[in-house]
Amino acid sequence: MDPVAFPIDQVRAAFPALATSDDGQRRIYFDNAAGTQVPQHTIDRITDFFHRYNSNTGVFNSTSVAVDAMVAETIRAAADYLGTDDPGEVIIGANMTTLTYQLSRSLAHRFSPGDEIIISRMEHEGNVTPWLQMAEDNDLTVRWLDFDRTTWRVEPAALEALLNDRTRLLALNYASNLTGGVNNVKALTALAHKAGALVYVDAVQFASHRLIDVVDLGVDFLACSPYKFFGPHLGVVFGRRELLESLHVYKLRCASDDLPYRFSTGTPAFELIAGLMGTLEYFQWLAGLVGADGNRRALFSAAYSAMGEHEDKLSAQLLEGLNAIPGLQMQGATTLEHRVATFSFTHDRCQPSAIARQLSAAGLFCHWGDNYAMEVARALDLDPVEGVVRLGLAHYNTRDEVAEGLDLIASTLA
Ligand SMILES: Cc1ncc(COP(=O)(O)O)c(C=O)c1O
Repeated sequence: MDPVAFPIDQVRAAFPALATSDDGQRRIYFDNAAGTQVPQHTIDRITDFFHRYNSNTGVFNSTSVAVDAMVAETIRAAADYLGTDDPGEVIIGANMTTLTYQLSRSLAHRFSPGDEIIISRMEHEGNVTPWLQMAEDNDLTVRWLDFDRTTWRVEPAALEALLNDRTRLLALNYASNLTGGVNNVKALTALAHKAGALVYVDAVQFASHRLIDVVDLGVDFLACSPYKFFGPHLGVVFGRRELLESLHVYKLRCASDDLPYRFSTGTPAFELIAGLMGTLEYFQWLAGLVGADGNRRALFSAAYSAMGEHEDKLSAQLLEGLNAIPGLQMQGATTLEHRVATFSFTHDRCQPSAIARQLSAAGLFCHWGDNYAMEVARALDLDPVEGVVRLGLAHYNTRDEVAEGLDLIASTLA
């Protein structure tokens, strides 16, 4: 059977923001690594919540019953999305950083002074500072795990050299939000587990590009942020049931002790949870467009395969063009191996802020600076303020946008 061509026109039509301009100037969204646009499915779900059942939870009013059902169904769908059969393992909260702070406070109860934690230098600060502060508050020792400057990932030998019988936790990035490098989380998790350590994975950057499978990875915790995968501004954390059940929890006395709600502090942003459901429905809709069928997980998998294949072609085109620009230095792999479509570069003459200002003024949306990947920026000896210019592709970008983007970058740096 012929593979179905990626339905780029239908995909783009599903995202109203892509047709929006600034005083007639078209926008090229290459700022997706900082946050993606949302499909109409998401917007409709949010609007529907406010039109029909805006309410608090837990009582007999029809609106409240509808909220409870929607939250439970969204958590079930999010469990399928992450690859677990157990919705009790899926916590929805404000964002990755807030959830990670919350869990670090709970996890601290398992650790004693002198215990060690390992933090990789590939991390966004969201998976660094909460652990540094936990270590400081509890007299834990922090060990730093370097990434390899040629493979752009953490090599198993580097981790093995740090593990010992006092290691309690490994904080590990799935994909770097600066270099785009992707770690072999499954292999590194197995090593950490052999030493008796827990593994907390930051999959925020990975989730925009590839489907996560928490069971296959074998991780203890994994965090992601729906606003990075075409959803609303929320955070989602997977945690293994036995850990979430046994962790000391910071919650109100009267709040539910049942999973996953024992980690939901205060009134959730119900409208955004409804929006997340819309995003997960969007993936299923996209899977239908490429001819897939099967259960929800199978549809997520088909959607991500189609998105990934399209994105890889764009990435190859972008990398080829960037690699050919004189004076431009990629800060990350120059091939597609072990990377997602997050690309950072510096230039031997022009400062990242100046480049980004010019590109943004021309409607090529991008980011600059260290992008909160402070340790990565330090490891790469980047200017601490200027950092890099970062371009992040998504599956709704096109070959024409990449070609136009490359022309703009080349003329900016000429
Ligand atoms: C890799 C990575 N981790 C963590 C975060 C922080 O996520 P949140 O904004 O949901 O706290 C980001 C945001 O840019 C990120 O890219």
